[in-house]
Amino acid sequence: MKKIAVFTSGGDAPGMNACIRAVVRTGLKKGLEVIGIKRGFQGMIDGDFVNMDSTSVSGIIHQGGTILQSARCDDFRSEAGRKKAFEQLKKAGIQGVIAIGGDGTFTGASIFSKEYNIPFVGTPGTIDNDLNGTDFTIGYDTAINTAMAAIDNIKDTANAHNRLFIIEVMGRDAGFIALRAAIATGAEAVLIPESKKDTKMLIHTLKINQKIKKRANIIIVAEGDESGGAFKIAKKIKKSFPYFETKVTILGHIQRGGRPTCMERVRASRMGMEAVNALLEGKSSVMIGQIHNNIVFTPFEKAIKHHQEINPVLMEMVEMLS
Ligand code: F6P
Repeated sequence: MKKIAVFTSGGDAPGMNACIRAVVRTGLKKGLEVIGIKRGFQGMIDGDFVNMDSTSVSGIIHQGGTILQSARCDDFRSEAGRKKAFEQLKKAGIQGVIAIGGDGTFTGASIFSKEYNIPFVGTPGTIDNDLNGTDFTIGYDTAINTAMAAIDNIKDTANAHNRLFIIEVMGRDAGFIALRAAIATGAEAVLIPESKKDTKMLIHTLKINQKIKKRANIIIVAEGDESGGAFKIAKKIKKSFPYFETKVTILGHIQRGGRPTCMERVRASRMGMEAVNALLEGKSSVMIGQIHNNIVFTPFEKAIKHHQEINPVLMEMVEMLS
């Protein structure tokens, strides 16, 4: 293998730049040519390629976002789109590809690898932490720290005014951001798609807090929770518990940006380096993950299908400690 490419795809995540940097620097040190594909699969289809030398990744390890930019690409879902992408890769002499992204990215990469003989290795880049085969994805640690800092600020004003806040955090179908942010901020309750008992828990908590005359409350809800989001919950609470003065905050994309944490940069750098090694060892259609500090490889299909399980102890912690 003489020439490899790297791209970022799907929702950007803090730490993606650290991972790109590690891929480029490792590749170059191993004597490879490294190409950056801009705008994810869309750039692959359009042949939007740039040569990456060592200085092209200077001064980016601490930056959120992705210097290669990202996109959600519908064209790659079609056979014609993937054929175009293959032709562009072939024309550029690319013999292996490193994809930094989430479930959508690996779904596309998995289909492509079955159709065309160009090896793909993935590194998990998503703030949602919703991939099987890694304890933590690139972006998750920074996102929970961003959410925590924002919720800490809201807590100050919630206490000052004796108000109940419902705070919605990201995590399309997953409650990992919500759960850890709830524990770290001492939230009164958390609502996540993986738990069906959480609404009961919320009502129980509100009844107790009403009884003991505690008005300041923080409720964290994952955007993917079946209750339908913060505004719907607020409406229900206002109706059933008029005692509380209820406010809503949606944290939104603030959670996607920002300087990656130290653990993020180290994890992303390690995964980037190991991704190059994996391609050189002949691995393909696998996602790199880190479990108990060890590097593991999970086939794309397993990584995307089996969202890792929520640890019930974490749910219990919210209830016990609030
Ligand atoms: O997958 C990461 C994520 O931030 C999800 O938490 C969220 O549901 C989604 O992306 C938002 O995507 P977009 O930025 O395309 O609206």
